Amino acid sequence: MKKIQGKYKVVELVRVNDIYYRLVLDAPALAKAVKPGQFVHIRVSDHFEPLFRRPFSVYRALAGKVEIFFEPVGKGSKMLASCKKGDVLDVLGPLGKPFASPSRSVKQIVFVGGGIGVAPFMIFSDTLLKHKAEKVLLYGGRSKAHTFSLAEFKKNGVKTFISTDDGAVGVKGRVSELFSKIDLAPTTFIYACGPKPMMAAVAAFACDKGLSGEASMEEVMACGLGACLGCSIPTTKGYRTVCHDGPVFDLKELVFA
Ligand SMILES: Cc1cc2nc3c(=O)[nH]c(=O)nc-3n(C[C@H](O)[C@H](O)[C@H](O)COP(=O)(O)OP(=O)(O)OC[C@H]3O[C@@H](n4cnc5c(N)ncnc54)[C@H](O)[C@@H]3O)c2cc1C
Ligand code: FES
Repeated sequence: MKKIQGKYKVVELVRVNDIYYRLVLDAPALAKAVKPGQFVHIRVSDHFEPLFRRPFSVYRALAGKVEIFFEPVGKGSKMLASCKKGDVLDVLGPLGKPFASPSRSVKQIVFVGGGIGVAPFMIFSDTLLKHKAEKVLLYGGRSKAHTFSLAEFKKNGVKTFISTDDGAVGVKGRVSELFSKIDLAPTTFIYACGPKPMMAAVAAFACDKGLSGEASMEEVMACGLGACLGCSIPTTKGYRTVCHDGPVFDLKELVFA
């Protein structure tokens, strides 16, 4: 798969709520090449600090623009949040293995997104507009502050359900509380992205119900290209790099200690 390193202009940086930001880059070649589940590796500074790029899932790729949806958690992502319209960012991508396209026999597609893990499902739902399966998003946010409008998902024909830890919005509890809200079928396919405990819960649920699925994993990254092995995780097939062998893995391959 061709990887592109390019410098792209920031055309928009929007604060979505108290927690999340949305960054839009003018990047026609990248927008054309990227597939749902892949990520971009962004140099957030021209200086040596931070030295390494930071990985972000592609949230949307429409009309020559590439969008990411992010939460500033540390130095790098906070620098990204301070970008201005017109700034130019050095971006490597698209990187990693994308989600598998659901086959025609899949009648229900369930996206399970925990917090910022919802990001890759927007571009995925954009590409599935013609797929006849029912599409459902189970979104879990830690608090009311972590919730945001899911209107764009609804516009793409996705049914949405929300949970928050304290029940301030939607169902009280973790996103796994939402599993009971949907009628599953043997032809349901699950796609998950979020914190590790959530992924472990989704993998256990899928195994229990005999369902297939994939999960997009996160690890701290350096090279992003499969060279340093710094992002390796255990799988049933041995250690695999999240950046090159993943980030998307079959749910059955994942090993949670
Ligand atoms: C494939 C992939 C896709 C991602 N997509 C998104 C996205 O769409 N939106 C988004 O907001 N974030 C995403 N992330 C996470 C994002 O890369 C990290 O939040 C960011 O790199 C943190 O950098 P920092 O310099 O701000 O924080 P640092 O100062 O480097 O770290 C701050 C804290 O976050 C922890 N941390 C850093 N990176 C990760 C990570 N990858 N996983 C778990 N904890 C981490 C550190 O251990 C530390 O506790 C993704 C990560 C991966 C691997
Ligand atoms: S970050 Fe270097 S191998 Fe994944």
